[in-house]
Amino acid sequence: MIETQAYSNLQRLSETMQTQHLKELFAQDPNRFDAFHLRMDGMLFDFSKQKVSTEVVDELLNLADEQQLESWIKRLFDGDRINHTESRAAWHTALRDVSEPRPEVAQQWRKLESLVNQIHQKQFRGYSGKPITDIINIGVGGSDLGPLMVTHALEQDRLACAPEVHFVSTLDARQLHTLLRHLDPATTLFVIASKSFTTIDTLSLAETAKEWLLQHAPNPQVVVNHFVGISTNPTKMTEWGIIPSQQLLFWDWVGGRFSLWSTIGFSIAVRLGMTGYNEMLAGAHAMDQHFKNTPFKQNIPVLLGLIGVWNTNFLNLSAQAILPYDSRLKYFASYLEQLEMESNGKSTRRDGSPVEYRTCPILWGEVGPNAQHAFYQLLHQGTERVMSDFILFSQWNSPSKRGSFHQNLNIANCLAQSRAMMIGESSEDRHKHYPGDQVSNTLLLKQLDAHHLGMLIALYEHKVFVQSVIWDINAFDQWGVELGKKLALNILGHIEEKSVEGLDSSTANLLKTIWKQHHEN
Ligand code: F6P
Repeated sequence: MIETQAYSNLQRLSETMQTQHLKELFAQDPNRFDAFHLRMDGMLFDFSKQKVSTEVVDELLNLADEQQLESWIKRLFDGDRINHTESRAAWHTALRDVSEPRPEVAQQWRKLESLVNQIHQKQFRGYSGKPITDIINIGVGGSDLGPLMVTHALEQDRLACAPEVHFVSTLDARQLHTLLRHLDPATTLFVIASKSFTTIDTLSLAETAKEWLLQHAPNPQVVVNHFVGISTNPTKMTEWGIIPSQQLLFWDWVGGRFSLWSTIGFSIAVRLGMTGYNEMLAGAHAMDQHFKNTPFKQNIPVLLGLIGVWNTNFLNLSAQAILPYDSRLKYFASYLEQLEMESNGKSTRRDGSPVEYRTCPILWGEVGPNAQHAFYQLLHQGTERVMSDFILFSQWNSPSKRGSFHQNLNIANCLAQSRAMMIGESSEDRHKHYPGDQVSNTLLLKQLDAHHLGMLIALYEHKVFVQSVIWDINAFDQWGVELGKKLALNILGHIEEKSVEGLDSSTANLLKTIWKQHHEN
């Protein structure tokens, strides 16, 4: 990136831009919004509260050209092995093209649909002959966060015939034990979701679930009916005890954090039904088409990604807040934490050399109105410069009579916050002085339904890809998480043998204290 002409031009432009306050940009051009927003299919992307000029946008587009974004997009959609360190494609987009599914995809969809229908029609029965009332999805990372986020966001679209769906991920098993206290083993179905089917978090929880069933079931044979497995590894599923008719497959060309579009989305399909689930895929597919076919200047994922690059590499911002003004998007920031930071939290270029520039910022977030009463103080008066994404929906199906009042309150707060961050307010009293000048995007969507949620998720996926191309990194591996897993196994060995030999003094003394406190009252 740094060797491009556009990079030098952008550096030059950033020197002037950094000295301009956002409110001055609005004063210079009161119709700034006209030049810095894009629309597509019920989505408005307003980036007028970013410190950009038309010159900056043009140079960012030049940077995209110099980094060959167009050919990378083609390679993504063609299913090339762009995840070169694992020699795999990153072909999640192929899962959203429901009109022309690949044969192996179509076969798994049929199997998924049949299981979903059996559950809805109360034909899928537990060991006592009673239909399933509760499904527990056991999985972590991409095998948890996507389905968790979507089922929560689209709770209002839940089918009346759908059972409860719960999510368990933490390996301390507390979530699982809390749930099991209230559930009936005879009517509980476990979904063991793991791309690799080797993740210790998931497998240890699955064993605990199996033990619970064995304690209650009339005989061990019937327990197998209470497990559905979702993985790329049928051999491991069979070895674990999942019967083939209850195995759902996907493939190594679907990354874990992109897997909600695969059979990992089973719990979403259970809740929404196939129609609702397909609407979500169609929304994502619409975004794919937009990303693939729209000139970069009008391309929302391209611009969203490039503006992030501008903020990170030229305005030196290293934090990104995600602020949805809708409590249904409670888990959206957690979902994006994995999507963005596991994808682009890298410091090695594709050719193996170290990067000489910043890559993924620290991303975090919270439902906006709650975050206002928690960390917005830092956004308004702290020392950190933060880029924020506000996410808002125009239509709001409120169940209460006071719905429109709450909607107005919500809208007012969202718009007030992005305006306050932009404009600030001067005061002679430093304690009451608001510098403003904090940049933000606003994504305004018509409504939070399966279609628009599909669009929104795909938008961020493509943003991540755009940035990875500019930064010349592979967005689709995650070697950084391996060392921790290896050391955890090593420390587990020390714990089981009660030995601290060879450990550093911090780890050794923490362990010794744990052992001592473990036996104290
Ligand atoms: O440890 C990180 C990770 O590999 C993620 O990339 C992945 O989503 C998660 O663990 C779960 O992996 P699996 O689905 O193979 O159990």
